[in-house]
Amino acid sequence: MAQHPSWNSVYEGSPPWDIGRPQPDFVRLADAGKFHGHMLDVGCGTGEHVMLAASHGAEAMGVDVAELAIERARAKAQQRGISAMFELGDVLHLDRLRRQFDVITDSGVFHVFDDEERPVYVNSLRSALRPGGMYYLMCFSDRQPGDWGPRRVSQAELRAAFVDGWSIRSIDPAVFAVTIDDNGAQAWLATIERL
Ligand SMILES: C[S@@+](CC[C@H](N)C(=O)[O-])C[C@H]1O[C@@H](n2cnc3c(N)ncnc32)[C@H](O)[C@@H]1O
Repeated sequence: MAQHPSWNSVYEGSPPWDIGRPQPDFVRLADAGKFHGHMLDVGCGTGEHVMLAASHGAEAMGVDVAELAIERARAKAQQRGISAMFELGDVLHLDRLRRQFDVITDSGVFHVFDDEERPVYVNSLRSALRPGGMYYLMCFSDRQPGDWGPRRVSQAELRAAFVDGWSIRSIDPAVFAVTIDDNGAQAWLATIERL
């Protein structure tokens, strides 16, 4: 597929989410044994969560629409000696991968989509997650003050998005580590099972 110009250009600079390590909340999930089997990180950026999963024994793959991000992810994995797969692709069309995963992770991707794209994204996730598989989602929360950054998401919106064929196990307050604010940004960490 063609690279996505606007997301790609973000990676010509230093995006605030690209912290050079995985999000601490995802590290806690990995340490709790939640990352295993065939794993997909959607909108993987420069690959920290894919490498986290791989280092916990998962067969991990990341997909992102930004070619620069994928190039950096591949270079980092090679430098660290981590075996992981990175593909340029559109997470609104995960059916094109023609495979299903045991676990899907999403750090900061759900909240980039507008109201029309959101159901398309959820259907796309469904196509790539096996029944009984788990989706771990971290998104910007409506508890975050101010208006910088991506759209805020409420718990009610999450519950409305994952109704049919999904079971929301938990939605907990979390914090996104970012480069531009030591306090981070308020987030939701949701654990959602595909029925
Ligand atoms: C806020 S960033 C998060 C990146 C990464 N998950 C992280 O935590 O560092 C959102 C990512 O989603 C990617 N993205 C946005 N729309 C996408 C799409 N339709 N398909 C694939 N990736 C997409 C962007 O290129 C960007 O890397």
